[in-house]
Amino acid sequence: MSDLSRLILDRIRDVPDYPQPGVLFKDITPLLADPEALSAVIDELAGLHQVDKIVGIEARGFILAAPAAYRAGAGFVPVRKKGKLPAETLEASYDLEYGSAIIEVHRDAFAPGERVLIVDDVLATGGTARAAVELVRRAGADVVAIAVLMELAFLNGRERLDGVEVHSLVIV
Ligand code: PRP
Repeated sequence: MSDLSRLILDRIRDVPDYPQPGVLFKDITPLLADPEALSAVIDELAGLHQVDKIVGIEARGFILAAPAAYRAGAGFVPVRKKGKLPAETLEASYDLEYGSAIIEVHRDAFAPGERVLIVDDVLATGGTARAAVELVRRAGADVVAIAVLMELAFLNGRERLDGVEVHSLVIV
């Protein structure tokens, strides 16, 4: 295991029965609170690809994507839950365990053909990331890759991403 993987795994706290009974929640706040681990994660994300924009997915994706964009000299673009962005948007829906949800991006968030890295904290079922890929593409940009702090491999989210390159800093 790499030093970075160890640094991350040692600072992710398992919280049983949150947000509902039977779920083991992966809490990244101890990692975010550690200066060495935080800077190592941001530097890793920022160095993955040469891109024009880094997209962060609400909410925890924002925490990683914005500093990574700053570090990489790229712009930051938020993908938000429906109803939160003020200007004209594109929207995509994705399945939740019960029901579905909608995320949005500003229609004019990208110049045509811009290179984009999508960042989030966790890849679980892949529904959120898949919808984000669809949004970025419909907005006219090119998805270079998806990067997540943590991939929950047992949920097979990667298989829903149709060959988009996925970087997971840790796989659990
Ligand atoms: C979590 C996580 C990812 C998504 C992964 O976000 O931050 O965005 O779920 O799940 P999936 O791969 O099964 O789609 P959540 O919807 O809980 O939103 P939040 O960050 O605003 O709490």
